[in-house]
Order: sequence, then C-alpha cells, then structure tokens
Amino acid sequence: MEQRSQWGSRMGFLLAAIGSAVGLGNIWRFPATAYENGGGAFFIPYLFALLTAGIPLLIMEYTIGHKYRSSSPRSFSKISKGMEWIGWWQVLISFVISTYYPIIIAWAIMYTYYSIGTKWGDDTTNFFVTDFLSLSDPGVFGSIVPNVMIPLLIVWLVAFIILGKGIKKGIEVANRIFIPTLLIVFIFIVIRALTLPGALDGVDAFFKPDWSKIMDGSVWVAAYGQIFFSLSIAFAIMITYSSYLPKKSDITNNAFITGFANSSFELLAGIGVFAVLGFMALQTSQPIDEVVKGGVGLAFMAFPEIINQMPAASLFGVLFFASLVLAGISSMISISETYISAVQEKFSISRKMAVAFGGGLACIFSLFYANQGGLNLLDTVDYFINNYGVALAGLFEVVAIAWFARSLKDLQNHADAVSDIKLGVWWRFCLSVVTPVVLGYMMLQNLKTDLS
Ligand code: PHE
Ligand code: NA
Repeated sequence: MEQRSQWGSRMGFLLAAIGSAVGLGNIWRFPATAYENGGGAFFIPYLFALLTAGIPLLIMEYTIGHKYRSSSPRSFSKISKGMEWIGWWQVLISFVISTYYPIIIAWAIMYTYYSIGTKWGDDTTNFFVTDFLSLSDPGVFGSIVPNVMIPLLIVWLVAFIILGKGIKKGIEVANRIFIPTLLIVFIFIVIRALTLPGALDGVDAFFKPDWSKIMDGSVWVAAYGQIFFSLSIAFAIMITYSSYLPKKSDITNNAFITGFANSSFELLAGIGVFAVLGFMALQTSQPIDEVVKGGVGLAFMAFPEIINQMPAASLFGVLFFASLVLAGISSMISISETYISAVQEKFSISRKMAVAFGGGLACIFSLFYANQGGLNLLDTVDYFINNYGVALAGLFEVVAIAWFARSLKDLQNHADAVSDIKLGVWWRFCLSVVTPVVLGYMMLQNLKTDLS
C-alpha cells in the first residue's frame, strides 16, 4: 500500500477544487440559463440554491472526504457497508462524463488554432458542422474525424501526465498554473468585451429582472440544477479531492471559498458573454433575444461569427478558446481522479496502473465521439447524465447520509472540530429536507417533460 498522498498547501487544494468547479458550466451554461430564467431576478433563486444546497453539500462532501480519507466508494462503505454502491454510481457518472468532456476540449484546441487568421471563414456554422465535424455524412460509428482525433489524443496525453504525477506534483501543480492564468485571460477578455460598441446594452439585458419568473417552479429547478452541476457536486469529485487534505484543514471555510469563487466566475462570464452578445446584436441589428445562445452553439458557431467582426479578431479568438481549454482540462482532471483513486484502492494497485487502466479505458471510449455521429451521441449522453444521473446521485447521497445512516450530526462534529465557522441546525435542515425535496421535485419535473 502506498501512503495516502496529500496536497502541498491549502491554496493547492482550493485551486484544484475551484479548477474542478470552474468549467464550461460557468462559461457557456450559466449566462444563457440566467438570461432565460428571469435575468436579474434569477439571482434570487440562484443565491438561495447556493446557500441552501450548494455550499451545505460541499461542506458535507469535504467532511466525508476529510474524515474517511478515501475515494468515494470506500468513504461510503466506511459510513455503512451497504452504501458503497452510491460511491460507485457517482464514479460511474464521472467516468461517462470523462469520455466526452475531452472531446469539447479537443474542439477548443482546434478552434484556438483556427482563431489565428480566423480560418473558419464567414459561414461559421457551416464550417463547424460540415468542414470541422463532417456531419453531412452521418454514421454513428463512421470513419474517425482527424480534426478531432489529434487534439483529443493531446488532451489525454496531458491528462495522463498530470494524473500520473499524483496529487501534489501533478494535479496541484497543474491547477496552480492553469487557474491563475485562466483568471487573468478571462478578465482581459471581459474588459475587451465591455469596451465593444453595444456591450453595455448586452449587459443591461442580462441583468434586467423579469420578476414574473420568480414564482415559476421551473426557474427554481434551473437554479438548483445550475448550482449542482457548476459546483461539481455528487460526482464523487469533491469527496475524492478532500480525502487528500491534511488533518488540520478548515473544511467549512474552504467550502464557502470554493462556492463563492465559482459563483464569482459565473458572474464574470455572464457579463463577458452578454457584452459580446450586445455587440453582436448591434452589428446585425437584431434584438438581443435573437442572439442569445448557450453551449456548443454559442462557443463554436456564434462566437466565431462575432469574433470575425472584432478588431484584433485573432487575438480575441485565441484567448477565448484557450480559456475554454484551461477551464476544461482542470475539470476533466478532477473527474478522472474519481475513478483513478477508486480503482487504486479497490484493487490495491499503484497509481500509475490505475491511471493506465482507468484513463486508458476512458480514452478508448472517447474515440467513439470523434466521428461523424459524435455530436449527437454526446448530446444524448450528456442529457441523460445531467437530468437523471447526477440528480439521482445527489438524491441517493443525501437521503443515505441524512436518513439511513443518520450521520449528519457526526459529520457536523467532525467539521466543527477543524473549522472556524460552526455548523448549526440550519445545515442539517438544508441537507435532510431542502436538498432531498428539491432533487426529488427536479427528477419528477424532468420525467414529466420527457414523457409528455
Ligand atoms: N463544474 C463544472 C462546470 O461548471 C462541470 C463539471 C461537472 C466538471 C462535473 C466536471 C465534473 O463546468
Ligand atoms: Na462551475
């Protein structure tokens, strides 16, 4: 048995946790979600979700990792023998995500390169769909697209190196470089975006509150969904990362810092994206409503089109896509670490073996998305993972801990012993009542929409 690794410093842990949290969810999911769900008014359900579910769950996951010092499956089995499967369920979800998340990073790498001289031309949608992904020739397991294949293998190579080097020398060092760089690049992008003509109209549209939405159940579901996804909760990630904390660590404080850092980055991204959309609306004389997008469409179709109209287009493009790459890789490392640590413990193998087997398998699966049918497959898998996989994982987790094992009080004592901020009955209430109710409601809503 190798001795359990540890983070080199508190900052190292925080940067890794923030690195996991800050990802595509902040950059392309949050801005559109907030806009569609009430704009400025969305901040009320959003803050509510952060304080009643996001941060309480983060505290719980940090405490579990810190207390049991194990991967997610083993941590759950230490709480109660019959709960190991909850950890494996989370690990499985992370494994599946780690087969398609790197595809998007690979796209972003190619687009960083295409940015130089705006190689995507004038028809950016056609470029993405036809030239880049060759979607015009669909076949689920058709021939591999070399455009995606090469950067994909680069992503995996980088991931293997970082993960192979371990917690302190690999993951911590990588995040110490990636996250501050990401922050600087992103601030630069936002400032540039804010000085474009029309930018302030975009930001205005983003913050304009639509109070009529506030009583709408689906808006609240969207807020909680955004918080879960964005904080990487119920993916086994935060349990795994906190299992490498030294004994003396302020758990509760760390959770608040991670939560607020992630939300600050979302706010920054919302301002930046809407500044750019405001510019776009002005250039094309369209109402802002028409240009709002999220996800793949925003990053790989709308953004290139907008970048074409900007002064110093190449520079802006390189910075934007490079920030997607940095945000993506740090999140991908964190999802992969969940199964690497789980497999390493379960089969008592070395870290390098676990990286080779776990990462190798995920790498092979990821090749299935690197072909003409890849985008559709990715959309479908992503939909089920987000709408059912994670919601279920979170629900199992809180119900098992709060109601079956009844270990909240025990975890509270553990956290309080090392933390400045003391937890109270509010914390146990959020986890035993608020979170299960919200997650249960969320599942029912999703089922209702899908079955109708
Ligand atoms: N938290 C990440 C984001 O906001 C998403 C993510 C979820 C990454 C789960 C890894 C695992 O983009
Ligand atoms: Na996030």
